[in-house]
Amino acid sequence: MDTFFLQIAQKLSEAKIENPQWETRLIFAEVLQKSPSEIFLTTSPTIAEIKKINHITEQRLRHKPLDKIFGHRGFYKYDFFISEDVLSPRPDTEILVESALEILPIISRPNILDLGCGSGCIIETLLKENPLASGCAVDISAQALSMAKKNAKALAIDKQLKFINADWFAEDFTLQIGKKFDMIVSNPPYIPSAEIETLTTEVKKYDPLEALDGGATGFESYERIAEIAPILLRNNGYILLEAGYNQARQIVDIFTTHGFNLLKIVNDLAGIERCVVLQLD
Ligand SMILES: C[S@@+](CC[C@H](N)C(=O)[O-])C[C@H]1O[C@@H](n2cnc3c(N)ncnc32)[C@H](O)[C@@H]1O
Repeated sequence: MDTFFLQIAQKLSEAKIENPQWETRLIFAEVLQKSPSEIFLTTSPTIAEIKKINHITEQRLRHKPLDKIFGHRGFYKYDFFISEDVLSPRPDTEILVESALEILPIISRPNILDLGCGSGCIIETLLKENPLASGCAVDISAQALSMAKKNAKALAIDKQLKFINADWFAEDFTLQIGKKFDMIVSNPPYIPSAEIETLTTEVKKYDPLEALDGGATGFESYERIAEIAPILLRNNGYILLEAGYNQARQIVDIFTTHGFNLLKIVNDLAGIERCVVLQLD
């Protein structure tokens, strides 16, 4: 077991995969159905398990991220099915979820809109944590919506959630949504188009482009969401937005010119301003 483990870690290291030992642990844990800390307690892997480990390693050597190979990823307290059709949920996005969870108890039976739901990780976590809440998950990608639906079923919150396949740049977008909400949550695409090429292979090849590309400035989706959010929110409704590196202050400027007041900006663990929380005046 130890020699085989070290061989895999060595291969990942030679392919310049960051944290090769940890990723090897994750591969073994996935195949052996153990937690990463338990893998050395088990007896040697069977031939079938060795085959699986080698197959996963081959894909990882081509820089496919582990969660995209496994087809699922943990987010907040839950596990989400994922594929190359959806952005892999990021730990940074849990900051937005935690900020929303602080506000939701003051709203009775909250109705929440997620603009750009992807896998569904944000809205579905909020609904799972608030059984009396309901919501609407919107995405331009029909494939992403199918994945979000699959996750909603697995989490048993599908009765609380509606799905709409729509483009927020469409002129009739607010009519397609057709109602008002207590809260909007959104992690829109925010990478400036010219920077996409500089991203790691893991991201630029395996996350969908429409989940990343924020237009020439990186702010195009925020600008559009700031226009439509006042129509989609009840008076004093909340909006929580994930921000890219160094974007939070400009996002605040965009939204305050559309009638919103800043409540707070929340930093991630690296000290980056990651989540902007505003309220409609
Ligand atoms: C950064 S991903 C976020 C996914 C998920 N909410 C998360 O946090 O992991 C942005 C999502 O917005 C969707 N999207 C991009 N442009 C859109 C548009 N114009 N209208 C609707 N959805 C859009 C993408 O398909 C993608 O699923």
